Amino acid sequence: MQRARIAVMDQVNSGASATAATMSKEPLREPGGSAAVPQMNTTAPAARTLLPLWAKIALPVAAVVILALSLGLGLGLGLKHHHGSSSSSNSTSGANATAIASHYESIWSYGNSPPVYPARTYYSGPPAPIPTVAETDNPAANGTGAQDWAAAYSSAQALVANMTNLEKNNMTVGFTVTYTGCSGVSGAVTRLGFPGFCLQDGPAGIRGTDLVTSFPAGIHLGASWNTTLVYDVATYMGAEFKAKGVNVALGPVVGPLGRLAQGGRNWEGYTNDPYLAGALVTQSVAGLQQSVIASVKHWVAYEQETNRNPSGLIASVSSNLDDRTMHELYMWPFQDAVRAGVACVMCSYNRVNDSYACQNSKIMNGLLKTELAFQGFVVSDWGGQHTGIASAEAGLDMAMPSSLKMWAGGILSDAVSNGSLPQSRLDDMATRILAAWYQLGQNSSSYPSLGAGMPFDLTKRHQRVDGRNVSQSKSTVFQAAVEGHVLVKNVNNALPLYKPVLLSLFGYDGMAPPVYDPTSLVADFRYLYGFETLNISDIDLLGIMGGSEEAPLTAQLGTLIVGGGSGSNTPGYISAPYDAFSQQAYDDGTYLLWNFNTVNPDVEADSDACIIFINQFSSEGSDRTNLTDPTSDQLVLNIAANCNNTIVVIHNAGIRIVDAWIDHPNVTAVIYAHLPGQDSGRALVEVMYGNQSPSGRLPYTVAHQESDYGQLLSPSEPGSSGSSDQYFPQSNFTEGLYIDYRYFLAHNITPRFPFGYGLTYVDFNYSLPSNNTLAYVIKTANTSALPPNSTNVVSGGIASLYDVVAAADCQITNVGTGPAAEVAQLYVGIPNAPEKQLRGFAKVMVAANTTEPVHFELTRRDLSIWDVVQQSWVLQNGTYQIYVGDNVLDTPLQSNFTIS
Ligand code: BGC
Repeated sequence: MQRARIAVMDQVNSGASATAATMSKEPLREPGGSAAVPQMNTTAPAARTLLPLWAKIALPVAAVVILALSLGLGLGLGLKHHHGSSSSSNSTSGANATAIASHYESIWSYGNSPPVYPARTYYSGPPAPIPTVAETDNPAANGTGAQDWAAAYSSAQALVANMTNLEKNNMTVGFTVTYTGCSGVSGAVTRLGFPGFCLQDGPAGIRGTDLVTSFPAGIHLGASWNTTLVYDVATYMGAEFKAKGVNVALGPVVGPLGRLAQGGRNWEGYTNDPYLAGALVTQSVAGLQQSVIASVKHWVAYEQETNRNPSGLIASVSSNLDDRTMHELYMWPFQDAVRAGVACVMCSYNRVNDSYACQNSKIMNGLLKTELAFQGFVVSDWGGQHTGIASAEAGLDMAMPSSLKMWAGGILSDAVSNGSLPQSRLDDMATRILAAWYQLGQNSSSYPSLGAGMPFDLTKRHQRVDGRNVSQSKSTVFQAAVEGHVLVKNVNNALPLYKPVLLSLFGYDGMAPPVYDPTSLVADFRYLYGFETLNISDIDLLGIMGGSEEAPLTAQLGTLIVGGGSGSNTPGYISAPYDAFSQQAYDDGTYLLWNFNTVNPDVEADSDACIIFINQFSSEGSDRTNLTDPTSDQLVLNIAANCNNTIVVIHNAGIRIVDAWIDHPNVTAVIYAHLPGQDSGRALVEVMYGNQSPSGRLPYTVAHQESDYGQLLSPSEPGSSGSSDQYFPQSNFTEGLYIDYRYFLAHNITPRFPFGYGLTYVDFNYSLPSNNTLAYVIKTANTSALPPNSTNVVSGGIASLYDVVAAADCQITNVGTGPAAEVAQLYVGIPNAPEKQLRGFAKVMVAANTTEPVHFELTRRDLSIWDVVQQSWVLQNGTYQIYVGDNVLDTPLQSNFTIS
């Protein structure tokens, strides 16, 4: 079987890598480099941000850990997986365990792993079968410099032609430096004017430095359903990255997609619907790349934090999925990002069908670089590289934050000399990196110098670089904060508020955290990773990032504006709910009472309304353990027992179940406020006082209870002691295409709030256009089964996949008394596919008593399925159901068309 052959290659190549490492005589020096140029450093890595996340945290606080261990607290970094059960490796010890692990490695990694590509089984409904034919070969896929990459490629190729192999090698690896605090710094070739890259987090704004903006997180933008807004946010964010001397912005996020309701990083991405994610990531890439290289991440099927990295004898979890699911769900938004011209893709920590993502030839050479014709470079997630030559051959182009014993120190260059690695691969790696640099115009002398605004230690004197353009970006930052609020309950005219006389405010989420301040390098991770709001010890924080501790359910030290980890950002101020309500009280003459300290406060009987601010925390490094928080639920029930107009605001970093109190008659309004960034409070007031009608819609499904999510609730764990996956955790995506609302529909489960749901202060009516035709196939469209002109492959795949094949029209009438935005949603029932899949949406502002037309276009890809036999998108003959409405379960307009 092919996979077995690849296994042998892996082993051979790993051997070659080791040999090359041994042969390498001296550390690689960047030729002509000065002291300020990234250099190979084989001594102890000192930089706080140039290491895998666990190590970034581990080093500054190593002393604390050692202390903890000596106290017998048993904490370790990545030494055990979490979620209750202790590591199964604990039960089998020493050499025996190692022998068993290596035995199982031969089974799981190379022998018994589910063969996936291509598959002969035709897929027609849940559960998805595991296909049955082995992997095809995925030869190296050199960048071709096609279409709009042509000029960048010819410049890159010309420069590479003048480089030594050592210089090319140098560009592919990260270096430890102390002159800048970038998350990663790649090698330079100063002799030829290439300075290397500063790579910096993250998707919601620049993390861990001063004078930048805290933008709303991905989930908040997802809830806005506003493509223009996402573009504008990304435009300002990209400009900040550039001003700070960053070359590669480590975002946006479309993986995790959000398969698991408890997935710890879902909030970094927009939504668990691939179409919506794709539409938004398209805008984000376009906006960011006006200034900086975007690095869409994490490629691919990275759906859980549990066992995301190897620990002890336990390998990273393997996401096992079939080819069709890969294409129609997890790959879909990445395809849009590539089509939008993204110049960098970050491969993920997990294994995909048992091969580590950053050494998986199928997903990098095959899917990304061949099928999608990606022209930029692939960078490893931090510490996600596990082999030398094998990862290079599989399509990895840059290893971060370093590549000791794998590529660095001339290993790749030696490997070319001794025949272990083709010259063409090393050339392609260097060319892709340089092409991205040229493509984004970073060769211009006006591009800020590497990491210029990213001080290594903020507590030391440094040059002040203000990345912001406040006068320009202010209104966008605010509006983006506004539009991610989703109103899900509003009875008795609870909202909007209008000059209330007496308001009572409650909940730990009401005020800004008391500290937002970088500390010295010894323990600055609270500031660096968005943990200022967590009321837990340094040791516990450390454990979250290292994967040995579960993140708390709530952030108790103040209002939550972003989640934790590398997706966090650094606000210049926080408009907390209390601040904004206080300002509004000043304007209106409202009398405020507040108690943010207890779960059982007394309530002033004459309050016009009682507003409760709670949150639901989530962080990189830890999957969530609960979609509710019993303490917060009790707070709501306590207030509701004494206040007949109780309004609940939840800053939620992911799905939050509310059945404990949502039907309480005194709970009159509820808002999912997500993660709004620094303008949180004033955006909330904008919506709650009706200056703007709420226009957010849920980008995920909220269930009544956790068990409704079935196998889509919790992460997979390693098998029990003695089982074959004890050391090789397996996560089988057997639900195939049926995640989130697709799953709820297929299993006839009624959600609490359906995907796409959200209230406004007005009502809308949907109607057909004047010709009474909802949806139709375009007369001139080519409806052949396979995409025509299949050799015309552009960034994002075959060009004709994006031909418009069908369209739909409707009208929306605002029958209320004020202006409001509606998010019209179009779902398609494709033959042999889930009942409804989002394939169009439009956010439309409609004035009172006014009707607006909405037009949707459906491309060939939107209507196709991925045929695993033909290895192509196929437009099937048959009847396509079209549904239009304001959420997946409320689609008053329905019709169909036939493709024959
Ligand atoms: C995260 C990435 C991040 C990188 C650099 C990793 O732990 O998974 O998303 O970009 O660290 O900080």
